[in-house]
Amino acid sequence: MANNYPFLSSRSAELHERGKAVIPDGVSRSTVIIRPHPIYVDHGDGAWVTDVDGNRYLDCNNNFTSIILGHANEEIQDAVRRQLSSGTAFSLATEPEILLAELLCDRIRACEQIRFCNSGTEAVMGAIKAARAFTERPAIIKIEGSYHGTYDHAEASLGSDPANWGPSDSPTTVPYAVGAPHSLSDEVTVVQFNDVEGAREAIKKMGSQLAAVLLDPMPSRVGMPVLSADFKKAIREETREVGALLILDEVISLRLGLGGAQALHGIDPDLTAMAKIIGGGFPVGAIGGKSEVMAVFSAEHGDRAAVPSGGTYTANPVTMTAGYACMRQLDESSFERLDYIGNKIRSGLDDVFESLSLDWHTTGAGSLFRIHPHGRRINSYRDAHLDSDESAVMQSLQHRLIEREVYFSSYGMGCMNLATSDRDVDHFLDAMKGSLEALRG
Ligand SMILES: Cc1ncc(COP(=O)(O)O)c(C=O)c1O
Repeated sequence: MANNYPFLSSRSAELHERGKAVIPDGVSRSTVIIRPHPIYVDHGDGAWVTDVDGNRYLDCNNNFTSIILGHANEEIQDAVRRQLSSGTAFSLATEPEILLAELLCDRIRACEQIRFCNSGTEAVMGAIKAARAFTERPAIIKIEGSYHGTYDHAEASLGSDPANWGPSDSPTTVPYAVGAPHSLSDEVTVVQFNDVEGAREAIKKMGSQLAAVLLDPMPSRVGMPVLSADFKKAIREETREVGALLILDEVISLRLGLGGAQALHGIDPDLTAMAKIIGGGFPVGAIGGKSEVMAVFSAEHGDRAAVPSGGTYTANPVTMTAGYACMRQLDESSFERLDYIGNKIRSGLDDVFESLSLDWHTTGAGSLFRIHPHGRRINSYRDAHLDSDESAVMQSLQHRLIEREVYFSSYGMGCMNLATSDRDVDHFLDAMKGSLEALRG
C-alpha cells in the first residue's frame, strides 16, 4: 500500500503547484481533478499506469472509456510510427480516413456513411446540426442528467438537482454552464430516462418543431440504468410519426459490442455519434448515419453543404491510422472477454458490499460499471443523483483506492480494458474491500 493520499511532498503535488500558475486548476480537464492534487501520469502499460512518483495504479477508468485494448498497444504503436515518418497533417485527403470509415460502416448497421471530427462533443453537435438541417426544425429532446459533451444544447440538465429539476413527468430544462442562454429551454426539452409516457407526450407536443431525440442507450451519469424495451420503442415510433430523427450517442456504448449498443438493443437510429475507442487513444469523433441524412454534409449539389463541417485536424491521418489499428484488432471474442471481466467485477463488488453489510450496488454492462453508494434501484437520473454525503463518501473512496494502487473515478464510474487479467480483477476487489473497511474506520 502506498502512503496516505494526498501525497504531500510528491512530484504530482509539486507539478500541480507549478501547473496552477499557468492553467486554471493546474489541468485542462475538470474530469481529472482530484483534490487536493491530481495524479500526474508518467506512462501506461496494458491495464496499469505509473505516475511521476513511480506509484502504479490499476486503471479502472481508461481515459473515460476511450482505451479498449490496453495502454501502449504494440500494433497501434507500430502503425502510428509508420504514419509519423510520413508526416502528421496535410491540407489534402488521406487513405486512412477511408479505411476507418469502411470498417465502421461495415460493423455499425445504421452507418451507411461517416464524417469524422475530433471529439465526442463535436460528433454530438454535428449530429444535432445534421438533424436540424435535414428536418429544417430547431428543437431537440434529451434525457435528464445524460452527458453528451460540452455543446450547450447537449449539456442541458446535465447537473440538475432537487432544487431545480422540476416535476418528474416534465423536467425543467436547466442550462449547465453559468451564462448559457436561457433561450435553451425553447429549443431543448428534457425527459427522464425510461419514462415511456413522458417521452411519447414530449415528442407529440413538440411535433413539427422537433428535429431529433438524443439518446445514450446506457448513460453513465444517469447511473447506467437498463434501457427499457418500451422506452426505446416509444422513442422510435413517435419520432417516425412526427418526422423527427433519432440520434444515438454511442460515444461510450460502442464498447459494448462489435456492432455497438444498437446491435444489442435492436435500435435503428438515423444518426450515430461515435468517439473514444474509434481513435485508438487519439482525439476523435465521428457522425454516422443513413446516406439520405448524411447528404447534409455534402456540397456535391450546391455551393456549400447544408451543414459545412471540418476542422484543421479533422480526420488527421495519425488518428485515423491509430483508430484503424485499434478497431481491426477487435472481434467478437474481444467483447466476450470484456463481458467476462465486467461480470466478474460487478458480481465481485456486490459480494464485497454484502460481506460488509453495505446497502450498495452496481449497474452496467460489458466492461462498464457504476457503483451506487445507496440502495436506490436505478431507473433514471433522479435515482442515481448523489446527495452531498454520498458524494463525499465516493470522493474518500477514490482516495483510499489510490492508496491501494487503483485509479477509479470519484463519481463511481468504472471501465476496464482488454489487458486486464483475472489477477487484476482480484486486485481491484481486494482494494475495494480494504478501502471500504478503511472508510468505516
Ligand atoms: C456519451 C458521451 N457522449 C459524448 C461525450 C463527449 O466526448 P468527448 O469527451 O470526446 O468530447 C462523452 C464523453 O465522455 C460521452 O460519455
